[in-house]
Amino acid sequence: RLRVLSGIQPTADSFHLGNYLGALRQWVRLQDTHEPFYCVVDLHAITVEQDPKVLRERTRRSAAQLLALGVDPERSALFVQSHVPEHAQLSWVLECLTGFGEASRMTQFKDKASKQGTDRASVGLFTYPVLQAADILLYQAHAVPVGEDQRQHLELSRNLAQRFNNRFGRTFVVPEPHIVKDTAKIFDLQDPASKMSKSASTVNGLVELLEDPKRSAKKVRSAVTDTGRDIIFDPEHKAGVSNLLTIYSALTGRSVDDLVTAYDGKGYGDLKKDVAEVLVEFVTPFQSRVQSYLDDPAELDKVLARGAEQARAVASKTLAAAYDKVGFLPPL
Ligand code: TYM
Repeated sequence: RLRVLSGIQPTADSFHLGNYLGALRQWVRLQDTHEPFYCVVDLHAITVEQDPKVLRERTRRSAAQLLALGVDPERSALFVQSHVPEHAQLSWVLECLTGFGEASRMTQFKDKASKQGTDRASVGLFTYPVLQAADILLYQAHAVPVGEDQRQHLELSRNLAQRFNNRFGRTFVVPEPHIVKDTAKIFDLQDPASKMSKSASTVNGLVELLEDPKRSAKKVRSAVTDTGRDIIFDPEHKAGVSNLLTIYSALTGRSVDDLVTAYDGKGYGDLKKDVAEVLVEFVTPFQSRVQSYLDDPAELDKVLARGAEQARAVASKTLAAAYDKVGFLPPL
């Protein structure tokens, strides 16, 4: 079985609808065909300031949400990044192969650094994508399920794998992004020109999976739609309506074409009401599953410990091979 790896940052109290539809749904699906490694990337989280107590809590909450969404610890290694020291260790080696200019061109870094002021942005924020490459390459992952916003980081991972292989001999699998086009970018409900994002979205544009479902329903019902009244899929001219159709289609499994036919002659209000309803039907049982995982933190920690053990078994081999290739003297 080919391997797959992905990660998510524990930087919010709740995952949002974009995380789920863009990436996490694919994590769950790929369990049927691949050997998965899924991690909560706490090392990445501290590239911006975190409160230690909150970070620890969010790390557990992230794991609970992944389990509640269907990540199955019998089929996937589910672990916390800092439990596997090889990530930081390989990252150093890859940093030494990354050009300063190359890292400077990462658009996520440029965005985040310019928001904080370049002088205040951490060096960790700068090397963030290299650590991400280490996450992926350690597991010889063929596929990496992510949303559209991670494409550039994935390209860097591929370049680093190829560069290392060319210089030192074949060591790493060159990973492919697994980006499902239809849901690769979910947009803010209030500002459908921007992606839904925990940091950038308006409060009412962001649907958090753990917020009160009534609140989510209200956000959907007050989503910004477009001028005109026809329900058609046209992301360029009808970004708001198209986003709602994408969400509806993803949550129900009905194709967008089907939905467009079904809503012929109906109004935006009808569509919003129905999207709100399927969303509530999805998040309500999800929330009670999350709660039951959080009610038993000892069991949760056990799952994560087992995942880390499985991850280390693979990661330590890859790291040893990479260390050997670059010429480090093996310890006796
Ligand atoms: P993060 O934690 O920001 O987001 C987790 C996943 O959610 C996707 N996503 C979206 N997809 C569609 N529409 C949206 N509006 C939307 N917002 C977020 C992201 O693309 C991501 O897949 N750098 C990564 C974490 C990471 C990682 C890795 C990913 C660290 N190491 C190794 C893959 C492999 C990140 O910040 O994701």
